[in-house]
Amino acid sequence: MAYKTIQVKTEGRVGVITLDRPEALNALCDALTGELADALAKFESDDGIGCVVLTGSKKAFAAGADIKELQGRDFIGLYLNDPFEKTWESVARFRKPIIAAVSGYALGGGCEIAMMCDFIIASTTAKFGQPEINLGVMPGSGGTQRLPRAVGKAKAMDLCLTGRQMTAEEAERAGLVSRIVAVDELMDVAMEAAESIASKSLPIAMMTKEAINRSFEIGLTEGVRWERRVFQSQFTTEDQTEGMEAFAEKRAAHFKHK
Ligand code: CAA
Repeated sequence: MAYKTIQVKTEGRVGVITLDRPEALNALCDALTGELADALAKFESDDGIGCVVLTGSKKAFAAGADIKELQGRDFIGLYLNDPFEKTWESVARFRKPIIAAVSGYALGGGCEIAMMCDFIIASTTAKFGQPEINLGVMPGSGGTQRLPRAVGKAKAMDLCLTGRQMTAEEAERAGLVSRIVAVDELMDVAMEAAESIASKSLPIAMMTKEAINRSFEIGLTEGVRWERRVFQSQFTTEDQTEGMEAFAEKRAAHFKHK
């Protein structure tokens, strides 16, 4: 499939998807979300990929859902056949580790897609917000659910009710962002993190991701019990044997299921 709204490349074991609709600040039109879902499905089934970086341009990660497309929608049409519902969650459902590298605007659906990733590395120019209220709607792709989990109720209410934008610094203080770097270093830092993740055992990295995501769904006692069972099961893997042998032998581990 030749993509028109995203660029896709592979560097070693890292897949890179760049949102590429500069004329609309990477607004998430149906074509873009469809292509994003398609690219992610391909990376998911590619054994050679151990981590994905999702990024945009310097000016915009994504300025939200495409308002010009949304404008023509009605309730019944959306309810019966919501194109977003089919494709947007493709990021949240992606099973391998995925990093959002964010410069410039990450607004509305842009902020929501970044939050679907496992963590966000932001440049100093990044701006996050849920401005949907200014359009007479509320966030519709997880903003009212993932944002309070990331930054707490007070800031989530503030952002969603006023529609204001938050700087990278405020986002890092609030826990939405894992690191802030200079804009020209963003991709280098994101790629370094992704390469590090992709050099580990892929199934163990995927189980780690699954366990952390599960902590948002279930209570602590059940979560800790489940974590222990998965930890125990990892002693059936060759990668556990290799990782611990390599430590004892003072050498780098070579994971079979990288
Ligand atoms: N949808 C469609 N087009 C968009 C867009 C969007 N979300 N955001 C920007 N664009 C387009 C503009 O219409 C403009 O196109 P034209 O040149 O053809 O007019 C182009 O991108 C450049 O934008 P601006 O001229 O507005 O650029 P700016 O630097 O002056 O402002 C901005 C940047 C503050 C991000 C401003 O573009 C803006 O406010 N965009 C909308 C942000 C927004 O409301 N996002 C939420 C969308 S709804 C949503 O996401 C719902 C959901 O949860 C599922």
